[in-house]
Amino acid sequence: MKTRYWIGMVVALWMLSPMCVSAQTGAEEVKKEQTVTPVEQIFRTQPYLQRPIGDEITICWETNVPVVAWVEYGKDGKLDQKKYLYADGQMICNNTRHHFRLDGLEAGETYSYRVCSREITLYQPYKKEFGNTAYSDVHTFTLPTKETTDFTALLFNDLHSQFKTMDLFADVIQKQGIAYDFVIFNGDCIDDVDEEARAIEILNHLNALADASDKPCFFLRGNHEIRGAYSIEMRQLFDYIDETTYGAFSWGDTRFVTLDCGEDKPDSTWVYYGLNDFEQFRKDQVDFLKEELASEAFKSAQRHILVHHIPIYSTRKVHYNPCFDLWNPLLQSAPFDVSLNAHWHHFTYYPAQEAGNPFPVVIGGGYKPEDAYMMVLRKQGEQLTLQVLATDGSEKLKLEL
Ligand SMILES: [Fe+2]
Ligand SMILES: [Fe+2]
Repeated sequence: MKTRYWIGMVVALWMLSPMCVSAQTGAEEVKKEQTVTPVEQIFRTQPYLQRPIGDEITICWETNVPVVAWVEYGKDGKLDQKKYLYADGQMICNNTRHHFRLDGLEAGETYSYRVCSREITLYQPYKKEFGNTAYSDVHTFTLPTKETTDFTALLFNDLHSQFKTMDLFADVIQKQGIAYDFVIFNGDCIDDVDEEARAIEILNHLNALADASDKPCFFLRGNHEIRGAYSIEMRQLFDYIDETTYGAFSWGDTRFVTLDCGEDKPDSTWVYYGLNDFEQFRKDQVDFLKEELASEAFKSAQRHILVHHIPIYSTRKVHYNPCFDLWNPLLQSAPFDVSLNAHWHHFTYYPAQEAGNPFPVVIGGGYKPEDAYMMVLRKQGEQLTLQVLATDGSEKLKLEL
C-alpha cells in the first residue's frame, strides 16, 4: 500500500514539473506540424469549368484536406470580386469538394479567376485552427452571347481511361494549334471505376487534355460510367444540366441536345442484379425530347446538334436498341444537322438516310491509338463543319453540314 502511495506521489510531482510540461508541449508541436499540409499538396484537382449556361458557370475543384474555399474573379484581368458559399448563414467549409456557381456574369466578356483554399486543421465548437492557403493559377473563361455565331467544340469518346491516347490527342491539338471554346466527352471516358481516387486520377488527365480550367467541359455518361463501385457517387464530380445526365444547352445560335442511353443491355440482364431501371429513364427522355423540340430555345436556334453515346441508327444487326423505338419517331422530323455518337469502338459515318437516319450520323472510334478519333465541330457564320482527326493528326473525315 505504501509503495503504491509513493509511486502515485512521484508521478503527480513529475506531471507538474517543467520537464513534463515541455514534453507535452513538444508532443503538441509535433502533432501540429504533422497536421499542417504543405501548400503544394492542398489541391487534389485543378479547377474545372462546368455548365456554362446563360449568364452562369460552375467552377469545380477538389482538395486533399478540409478547407475554407473561395473564388476570386473579375473582368479586364482583375480579381476584384470574391465569392464564398453560405448555407442559411453558415459558411460551407471544412470540406474537400467545391462547386461554385458564378451568376450575373456578362456574356461575351472574358473573366479571369482563381480558386483559393485555406486548410482547416482544427474545427471545434470554440476553437478553429488553419494551415496554409493554396491559390490556383489565374484562368479565364468567356460565356457566349445569344448572338454568337462562331465557335469550335472538341468531342472525345470511349477513351476508356487510356492516358496514352489522351496524350496523343493533346499533341494533335497543340501541334495543329486548334483553338476551341468547349469540350464534350461523349461517354466511356471514366470507365468501370471502383474508387474515388481512380476517378480523380482519370478526371485530372481528361481535364488536362481539355484544358478544363479555361474551357468548359460536358461529361456525358456512357454505359461504362454506370459500372464499378464508385459509379453512383461519380456524378458528384460534375455539375449536370438540370441535375440529370441528359439535357440541352445553347452555344450562341446553336442548340446542343444531349441524351443518355443508359446501359447497353436490358435491365433484366443478370450482371445488373436488378439494380437498374433504364427503361423508365429512357421514357423520361421522350418527354424531355418533346419539350425540348417545342421549346423557343430549340426553335429559334440556327443549328442543332444531337449527341449521345450509343448509336441508335445502324446498317448492321443490333440486338438491343430500345432508344431507337422510343426516340426515332420524334427524331424523324427534328431538324438536327448531325448526330455525334460513340460506343462501337469502330469509326462509322452514315450520310443521311443510309441507316434510316434523318440526319448525318458520325460515330467515333475506340481507345487504342490506331482506331481512336477526335471530332472538331466548327461554326463560322452560317458554315458548320465537322472534322474527324486520328491520333497522328491525319484527317479521317471532313463534312460540310
Ligand atoms: Fe466504350
Ligand atoms: Fe459504350
